[in-house]
Amino acid sequence: MNKFTGNKNYSISTQTVVSSCPSNIALIKYWGKYERQIPANPSISYTLNNCKTNTSMEFVADEKFSVQTFLSGNEEKKFAEKIEKYFRNIEEFLPWILKGKYVIKTENTFPHSSGIASSASGFGAIAKCLMELDHQFSGAQDGDFKERKASFLARLGSGSACRSLYDGLVVWGRTKEVEDSSDLYAIQYPNDEIHEVFRHFNDWVLLIHEGEKSVSSTVGHGLMNTNPYAERRFQEAHENFAALKMILKNGDMTNFIKLVEHEALTLHAMMMMSDPAFILMKTGTLAVINKIWDFRKDTGLPLFFTLDAGANVHLLFPADKDEDQIKEFIVKELLQFTQNNGVVKDVMRF
Ligand code: PMV
Repeated sequence: MNKFTGNKNYSISTQTVVSSCPSNIALIKYWGKYERQIPANPSISYTLNNCKTNTSMEFVADEKFSVQTFLSGNEEKKFAEKIEKYFRNIEEFLPWILKGKYVIKTENTFPHSSGIASSASGFGAIAKCLMELDHQFSGAQDGDFKERKASFLARLGSGSACRSLYDGLVVWGRTKEVEDSSDLYAIQYPNDEIHEVFRHFNDWVLLIHEGEKSVSSTVGHGLMNTNPYAERRFQEAHENFAALKMILKNGDMTNFIKLVEHEALTLHAMMMMSDPAFILMKTGTLAVINKIWDFRKDTGLPLFFTLDAGANVHLLFPADKDEDQIKEFIVKELLQFTQNNGVVKDVMRF
């Protein structure tokens, strides 16, 4: 029994709820987990502003439990199976959840093939819908509790989704560096501990390779169980948190860039050292990284990158006086490495 165990006194009715949830991009990466989506190390991400999932959930009370899902109007049977399994898994926390049928309609504001974490925004939006229903069926709940429980439920769908429930910088996983941090849900990193230079940021995602990812995150996390460098990596994530805390407070852009790029390269290095090994970068990914490093050397401007578990490159740069020069460079020099001139332009949501 934990504080999120559901209230057994509920009263259900047919309802449709809607919700929207953004995606997020990690700076310190979550890669490796234990049973029930407990992360092997703490992570921190920026929540995005434009890349979102919008979801409507119709709950028909007292029908046999079933789930039907539609993505941009097309029925997605595989996704429905995944959600069905997920709902069965979280019954302890929402005791009414299997007492009806669901029609879930969802759409992303970003291209499906972009490799932008649609599982994060998708499960975030579903968890928010569920908490809205719970609020109606089990009695009104305090706003903070509702948000925290939504993060807890989103985590059980897809780990990194739990960070999408909050704006700004968001921490998931217990670290002594952040008060109240937890392995069970995410919390917002305190805004007053973040220097102004880190509050207005762009994230332009270069679509180097569109299409299915070569390794799912489930498989990827699993590979950390036998990776000989895993323990050192988990420990380093803790060390990086301590360093990042100072960097965020002091506005130390140089070390921010160094740490964020190091985290991205470490994630990819872990994949290369797995058995079986995966190289998730493409030629274009490497070309872009080298161009960014040359550009920084030549101009001193703060353009840098992070990567997810795929080939696409997230270009990070402050939204300030230099941003026009950086954008011009991206369009002139980096777009050529994308498959179809694909770039998703976003900003961090504060
Ligand atoms: O939430 P998952 O299981 O899809 O894992 C996401 C892992 C990374 O995106 C690579 C890193 C992270 O912290 O978001």
